[in-house]
Amino acid sequence: MNRLPVRKAVIPAAGLGTRFLPATKALPKEMLPIVDIPTVQYIVEEAVNSGIEEILIITNSNKHCMENHFDRSYELEKRLNESGKTELEKMIRDISDMVNIYYVRQKQPKGLGHAVLCAKSFIGNEPFAIMLGDDVVINDDGEPALKQLIDAYNEKGASVVGVQTVAHDQVNKYGIIKPLGEIKQGDRRVKLSGMVEKPDIDSAPSDMAVLGRYVLTPEIFDLLETQQQGKGGEIQLTDAIVRLMDLQAVYAYDFEGVRYDVGDKFGFIKATIDFSLNREDLSDKVKEYIKELASQL
Ligand code: UTP
Repeated sequence: MNRLPVRKAVIPAAGLGTRFLPATKALPKEMLPIVDIPTVQYIVEEAVNSGIEEILIITNSNKHCMENHFDRSYELEKRLNESGKTELEKMIRDISDMVNIYYVRQKQPKGLGHAVLCAKSFIGNEPFAIMLGDDVVINDDGEPALKQLIDAYNEKGASVVGVQTVAHDQVNKYGIIKPLGEIKQGDRRVKLSGMVEKPDIDSAPSDMAVLGRYVLTPEIFDLLETQQQGKGGEIQLTDAIVRLMDLQAVYAYDFEGVRYDVGDKFGFIKATIDFSLNREDLSDKVKEYIKELASQL
């Protein structure tokens, strides 16, 4: 069993973002800000806070501004410095100093599995994390979601997918896990016997959905290379993980934290409201505004 540490993360960001058109016609959805921070920055911060040392973002030709966001901006830093805005200058520089980020393009949007395969030579023969920008997870009182999965990986030396329970009528939007046997009360980890991408509501094997965090062993790449198209004509990561289960154990980990589906318009609005209520500079004003609105409903 592979026991190397999890040092690298892949952030697939080459999807078309059709649920956010027209905003995503020219702007990557990963750059849409929750208040004033682009969603991809929350993901990168979670990776860094989980001990990740190197990140590969899978991009496409429409995503230049993400590279600029994580690069130095000497002109802007100089101007902020000259006008005495040194706190802002530091904040801007800190973004580019966080971690080493690399980029590779997925030439066609053939699905999440195909996007992950683009990371094969970057990852090599190490276990690695996958983080999807659609799922922003906040766990103020505990470990970041990815750190919880890495700890679970370190205990078992086996792949782990991050899950949470979703409403039964929502299971057809997610990859849904099939646990092997009963889930023990109080146990956050369960071995899997299967996983289904976007199952019909009536035939879903559970209500536990894979929510944008994975730690996988590198054997996944050989499987992705031969993976046939699945649901929606795309090369599905879920299908390759199911095949991985024939070779080695795969676990699900029910991670702690509040998760926002920011790839969905309503999820994005909820995140914006909650995050602004948690901001010292905005909270009072936003609360007043919500009360005013509520009194008119
Ligand atoms: P989604 O299907 O949720 O993202 O893929 P999308 O295609 O960007 O969004 P919609 O549904 O059209 O609004 C899940 C993740 O996989 C990435 C996406 O960027 C997203 O982070 N992805 C998907 C790729 O990198 N390449 C693909 O070919 C497909």
